Amino acid sequence: MRHMLNPLDFSVEETNQLLDLATDIMSDPDKYAHVCDRKKIATLFYEPSTRTRLSFETAMLNLGGSVIGFSSSQSSSASKGESVSDTIRVISCFADIAAIRHPKEGAAIVAASKSSIPVINAGDGGHQHPTQTLTDLMTIRTLKGRLDHMTVGLCGDLKFGRTVHSLINALSRYEGIRFVLISPPELRVPDYIKEDVLDPKGIEYKEVVSLDDVIPELDVLYMTRVQRERFFNEEDYLRMKGFYILDARKMKLAKDDMYVLHPLPRVNEITVEVDDDPRAAYFKQVQFGVYVRMALIMTLLGVEKPC
Ligand code: NCD
Repeated sequence: MRHMLNPLDFSVEETNQLLDLATDIMSDPDKYAHVCDRKKIATLFYEPSTRTRLSFETAMLNLGGSVIGFSSSQSSSASKGESVSDTIRVISCFADIAAIRHPKEGAAIVAASKSSIPVINAGDGGHQHPTQTLTDLMTIRTLKGRLDHMTVGLCGDLKFGRTVHSLINALSRYEGIRFVLISPPELRVPDYIKEDVLDPKGIEYKEVVSLDDVIPELDVLYMTRVQRERFFNEEDYLRMKGFYILDARKMKLAKDDMYVLHPLPRVNEITVEVDDDPRAAYFKQVQFGVYVRMALIMTLLGVEKPC
């Protein structure tokens, strides 16, 4: 039995196969409409979500399966004090696969250790968010035609942004990736990512504060929101929140084929005028997310690709 807790749980080859499957699903979704008939996914969301939960649910429904779950800890027995370990044992009796989001780092790992069904980490605190990363990889590969030899700018809250951590893990395995890490000094990428991933692999990266200075050199710009819920005080959040605003003026400085990604939700870090720019990829990204989650559910359930 396999889980998806960190993007590194799949080798580069397996990741590429999963993206190939997602691409095939995208080209002919009807072919996959019944491959998960009678299968159930449980979505266990202890933290707010719009895209991720509904994307998992849509993915399973598109495959012919069905959905159970909860969308807040208040509506589950967590509010009575039940542990994640006990909840996943119970859910293992009901569903074939589970996607879990939790505010605590490591919660999905704990769940997987007690689960008898595959567990997908749908975000654990400020740690990892592997299925957002699969979505990001699918978006980049589809729009740019490759995942190697490019300069990727990550901008905003690189400290608490779990999507950033997972994306760095995943992209670091492709040839010729260079990162430009754009953040205020207080929100830099945590040291453990530099020490465990970037430095040992000899990945080229630089840390900068100004987006204007580096935007012309980027092939992909990954914007993120400041993660208010992970700040210890509101004052710090308010100071950081307006730090980066991507607008039409900044987009003029960028390459003609520099795509802008964002895991969403957006707060104020991209102005709505950018939405009409053909390089804005963040709403397309949402659609790609459904296809990769369909591919992931099939892969973890061991469902064969239909002929
Ligand atoms: C992200 C998350 O939950 O980490 N959202 C998402 O799943 N698309 C990013 C965020 O909340 O800022």
